[in-house]
Amino acid sequence: MKREDSSDGLILSVVIPTYNEADNIRVVLDKLIESLEGGGFRDFEVIVVDDDSPDGTWRVALEYSKSDPRIKVIRRVGERGLASAVLRGAREARGRYILVMDADMQHPPEIAPTLLRKALETDADVVVASRYTKGGGVEGWSRLRLLISRGATLLAHLLVKESRLTSDPMSGFFLARADLLRSSELKPRGYKVLLELLGRSGSRIRVVDVPYVFKRRLSGESKLGLGTITDYVLHLIRLSKLAKFALVGASGMGVNLGVMALLMGLGVIYDAASLAGIEASILSNFLLNEYWTFEVRGGRRLERLMGYHVSSTGSIIVTYSTMKLLYIFVGVHPLIGQAIGIVLGFVLNYLASSRIIWGRLGLGGERRV
Ligand code: GDD
Ligand code: MN
Repeated sequence: MKREDSSDGLILSVVIPTYNEADNIRVVLDKLIESLEGGGFRDFEVIVVDDDSPDGTWRVALEYSKSDPRIKVIRRVGERGLASAVLRGAREARGRYILVMDADMQHPPEIAPTLLRKALETDADVVVASRYTKGGGVEGWSRLRLLISRGATLLAHLLVKESRLTSDPMSGFFLARADLLRSSELKPRGYKVLLELLGRSGSRIRVVDVPYVFKRRLSGESKLGLGTITDYVLHLIRLSKLAKFALVGASGMGVNLGVMALLMGLGVIYDAASLAGIEASILSNFLLNEYWTFEVRGGRRLERLMGYHVSSTGSIIVTYSTMKLLYIFVGVHPLIGQAIGIVLGFVLNYLASSRIIWGRLGLGGERRV
């Protein structure tokens, strides 16, 4: 990958987003600086990005920075959001690597030098401090909270291929090559910057995990409530081709039935109306997949259209034969057989679409993402 070096000799910029962390920020900065210096690193900067916290976190950080010129404080007024704060800090950062961490001591600053050393040793693009690798863990979580977190991680691994590069794609504690975090492709939506970074990377990056234990909060409370769960799922869908493809398929069902009903209402005979419904859904699915799911522009579009017809027809044949074979040879109820067939047909259609029709080796034109 191309390396863009604007580092001024600085090896590391630590970006710390804060909102109402006035009681914590000093301790975090103390420990962070002590740990980095103890690890032999002196050429770093720390950028605190505060969203005009009512408790005056920015003022505390500003006061602190007077005794250490390596500390910078950005006070954003009229803007809120963890991810956008991190990306803002990244834009101002001058280091070769950027370390992102929380300001409440849940991400132990002692790990900072280990993360940096790991990046230098392995030449990894991203080093993730992980709760879910051997040696990592969480302190004082209820079974339910653990379950939700593990479930969310599993969902990410299932839907976003690139997230499998790490055991903890939801981590808010990670180090990355600065130019990766400054990429204009990153959208400051949601709060999972790492997930966004991985999802947009197209698997071209090297990721290494380092274990850590997620500690209890020093003071104050979490700002990420239950509302963030919907945000998270929407974020996953945006990054997941599989989820988009499935949603397009579901929308096709509506188009299919809608067109058929419309034509029958106009007096068209049902056979013809059915075929027209099928064709209309294939066309609308094609367009949505072209522009939304796979975001491919130009190239051999007509061939992709033909390819998608073949693949869709194939998936209908697979659905039908699965139902029929399961019924005749195993005695499975046709409705259940049909359901299994739909899943198999879907998988076939998705593989053909993602690998061949819109795939790198197939008929794909110019890929935007
Ligand atoms: N600037 C800014 N703006 N900072 C914010 C905002 C915001 O709107 N919301 C939260 N922060 C800061 C907090 O002050 C804290 O330093 C950090 O972002 C994380 O917020 P918490 O509220 O402490 O989140 P959490 O502890 O529930 O979750 C954290 O840990 C998880 C596990 O690593 C986050 O880092 C998650 O992203 C992460 O998954
Ligand atoms: Mn926290």
